[in-house]
Parts: sequence; structure tokens; C-alpha cells
Amino acid sequence: MKSLILFCCTAALLAGCSKSDPHSPSALRQSIFKDMLRTSETLGGMVRGRSAYDPATFQAGADKLKALASAPWSHFPEFEASGPSHASAGQFKAAAQKLETATTQLAAQAEAGASMEDIRPRFTAVEESCAACHRVFRPE
Ligand code: HEC
Repeated sequence: MKSLILFCCTAALLAGCSKSDPHSPSALRQSIFKDMLRTSETLGGMVRGRSAYDPATFQAGADKLKALASAPWSHFPEFEASGPSHASAGQFKAAAQKLETATTQLAAQAEAGASMEDIRPRFTAVEESCAACHRVFRPE
């Protein structure tokens, strides 16, 4: 019993350590997600007319978001495992893929100099892919 308690404390300590370690998977992915949020907020401001639409700034942001969209997933060791014991890994990867596709399409539209009318639904699709994954996988 004593050793069980000791084990639990050690595990809790280790978990605490990995949280504050800037190179831990959770710290790395959280900093990418923060960058994603900042970038999508800049784009969202233009899409919603809160800031003036500047095509060059929008395009740069859309390219950045596209690059960021593939960055977090290697920092989720818990979803690297596959097979029947980890059914949610496939669902997670599919949700990640949706974001990558949506940001690729948004960046292509921006690159093509599309009008805001055409860009808006693409941006909405990006936001929906963030939300769809968060609903299932992001802890409260
Ligand atoms: C495939 C799943 C998935 C997609 C797609 C996704 N996220 Fe997340 N996101 C997560 C998970 C899981 C967490 C919790 C990570 C953690 O706690 O380590 C998270 C956490 C976050 C956080 C909090 C980071 C922190 O400091 O704790 C932000 C902000 C965020 N996501 C923004 C976004 C934005 C913006 C998009 C879309 C452009 C997006 N996410 C798309 C899964 C996803």
C-alpha cells in the first residue's frame, strides 16, 4: 500500500513537471495552438469587417495558418498509437486532416486574390474544423 501511494505521488509530480517543461509535448502543442488562434483572429477580424481587408496581410496570415495546421499533431503522443485499442486516434487524425484541408483551401483562395465574398465561407470552414475537434478532444 505504501509503495502504491509513493507511486501515485511520483506520477503526479512527473505530470506536474512535464506541464511546466517548455519542451514537453503539451507545452509545444499549446504554443502552436496559441499562434493558430492569434493568426485566425487576425483573419477573422478582416472577414467580419472589424478591421479593413488588406489582401496582402490576409494572404500572409492564411499561409501561416496553413503551415501551422500541420504542426501540432506530432506533439500528441497519445494519438500516435493506432489499432483497435486506440479507436479515437483515427478520429483525431481525421479532424486534424479536416483543418489542414480547410486551411489549404483558404490559402489558395487568398493566393488567387478571391473576393471577401468567396473567402468568407472558406474561413468559416476553418473555424468549424477547429471547433469540431475541440468539441470531442479538447479537455474543458
Ligand atoms: C484535431 C484536433 C484539433 C484541431 C483541428 C484544432 N485543435 Fe485546438 N486544441 C486541440 C486539443 C486536443 C487541445 C488541448 C491541448 C492541450 O491541452 O495540450 C487544443 C487546444 C487549443 C488551444 C489552447 C492552447 C492552450 O494554451 O492551452 C487553442 C487556443 C486552440 N486549441 C486553438 C485552435 C485553433 C484556432 C484551431 C483552428 C485554426 C484549432 N485549435 C484546431 C485540438 C485541436
